[in-house]
Amino acid sequence: MKSLTFKSAPAIKGEISVPGDKSVSHRAVMLGAIANGETIINNFLMGEDCLATIDCFRKMGVEIEIRNPNSEIRTMNVIVKGKGLKGLAKPEGILDVGNSGTTIRLISGILAGQDFETAITGDASIQKRPMKRISEPLLRMSARIEGREESEGAGGSGKEIFPPLKITGNKLRPTEYELPVASAQVKSCVLLAGLYADGETTVIEPMASRDHTERMLSYFGADIEIREDSISVRGPADLNGSEVDVPGDISSAAYFLVAGQIVPEADLLIRDAGVNPTRDGIIEVIRRMGGKLEVVNERIMSEEPRADIKIRNPRSEIRKLKGIEIGGELIPRLIDEIPVIAVLATQAKGKTIIKDAKELRVKESDRIKTISSELRKMGAKIEEKEDGMVIEGPVKLNGAKVTSYGDHRVAMALAVAALAAEGETVIENADCVETSFPGFESLLKRTVA
Ligand code: S3P
Repeated sequence: MKSLTFKSAPAIKGEISVPGDKSVSHRAVMLGAIANGETIINNFLMGEDCLATIDCFRKMGVEIEIRNPNSEIRTMNVIVKGKGLKGLAKPEGILDVGNSGTTIRLISGILAGQDFETAITGDASIQKRPMKRISEPLLRMSARIEGREESEGAGGSGKEIFPPLKITGNKLRPTEYELPVASAQVKSCVLLAGLYADGETTVIEPMASRDHTERMLSYFGADIEIREDSISVRGPADLNGSEVDVPGDISSAAYFLVAGQIVPEADLLIRDAGVNPTRDGIIEVIRRMGGKLEVVNERIMSEEPRADIKIRNPRSEIRKLKGIEIGGELIPRLIDEIPVIAVLATQAKGKTIIKDAKELRVKESDRIKTISSELRKMGAKIEEKEDGMVIEGPVKLNGAKVTSYGDHRVAMALAVAALAAEGETVIENADCVETSFPGFESLLKRTVA
C-alpha cells in the first residue's frame, strides 16, 4: 500500500488548476447515458469514483469513449452516446461502484425506473454506508430495494440496509418527498427516479444541499422547477445530450486554500475552480477565520459558476486566524471540507466548534473519529462530539506517522497538516487519494517552495 511523505513547507507558490469536479463529472455521465444524442464532457475527473460510474453505464450497454487519456487534465474529453430514457440494457453480473457513494445512491434512482433487476455493490467502505435513505423514497415510488439488513441499535427505528443492493425496477409513480437529512445524494436519487415517473415528483429539502443535479437537469432540457426549498421534475423526461464543461473541484482546491493560510508564505493562483453557492462554504469559513483569499474572474459555464482564486500571504505579514463556530445551514455547503477545516482550526487562536455534522460519521470513514485521532498524533487538541468536534488552537504540529483509514479526504487533509508541522509526516494507506484527486501528491509538491 502506498504512503505519502510530506515535510514542513516554508511557502506555497504557483499557478495551478485542480482536476474536474467529482459531483458534476458523475452527473454528466449519468444524464448523458439516459439522454438522446451525444454528450461531450470536458475536464471530466479521471478519478476512480467517476470511472466507476462510467463502468456501470458501459455494463448497461452505453458506449462511452475517453479521448486523450494521457493529455493534460484540462482537455480531457469523455463522450457518452446517450441511449435515451429507456435505452439501458440489463447488465450481466453485478455492478461495482468501488468506493463511490455518489455512484451507488444516484444510479439507484435510475435503476429503479428500469424494467429489469440489478445487483449493485462496492468496496468494504461502501458496504458500511446506510442505504435506507434511498430505499424509502424509491419504495414509495413503487420500486423495490433490498440490502443487507442490520438493526440500527438502541433508539433506532427499524432496520438500516447496506450494500450489496438488489434493485427491482418498476413503472414508477411520482411522489412528494421531504428529505429527513440534507443530502444531495438522496435528493438526486429521487429526482432521477422522478424522470421515469408519470407526472410531477417533488423533493423538499430541510436545508440547501449541492444543486448540481438540478442545474444539469435544466441544462439537459428537463421539465424542472426549482424553488427556495423544493424541486419538482416532470416525467417521463426527454433529455438532450449536451456539452458539459466541468469546473475544477472546489473540494480539491480546498487543500490548497487551507495550505495557503497555514504555511509561512503563500502566493498561489487556482484557476477555474467551481464556486457554486451550495459548495462554497470553505471560502466563507476561511474569510470568517481571518484568512485571506480573493475570488476573481467569476463566470458561469454549463450552468455552473466558476472563478479563479488568489491567495497572497506574504511572509512579513502577521497572520491572525481565529476560531469560529461552524454549524447549521453552512454544514451541507462544506461537508467534504471538514477534515481540512479541522487542520486549519489547529492553527487558529481559540476554539473552533464544528456542530450539526453527524453525517460525517457515515462518510468514506467516520470522519469525526478518523481525522481527530490522526491530528491528535500530530499534537492537535481536538475533542470529539457526537455531531462534530471542538478544536483548540493554535498548536505547534509535529510530523508523525498517521493513517488515512482508506479515506481520500482524510489522507489529503493530513498532507496539508504535514506542511505546517515540524519534521516529516508519513501518511499510510494513501492509495485512496486516487478516488477523487489523481495527481494530488505531485501537484502539492510542485507548489511547495
Ligand atoms: C455528494 C453529496 C455529499 C458529499 C459527497 C458527494 C454528491 O453527500 O458528501 O461527497 O455528489 O451528491 P451527501 O449528499 O450524502 O451529503
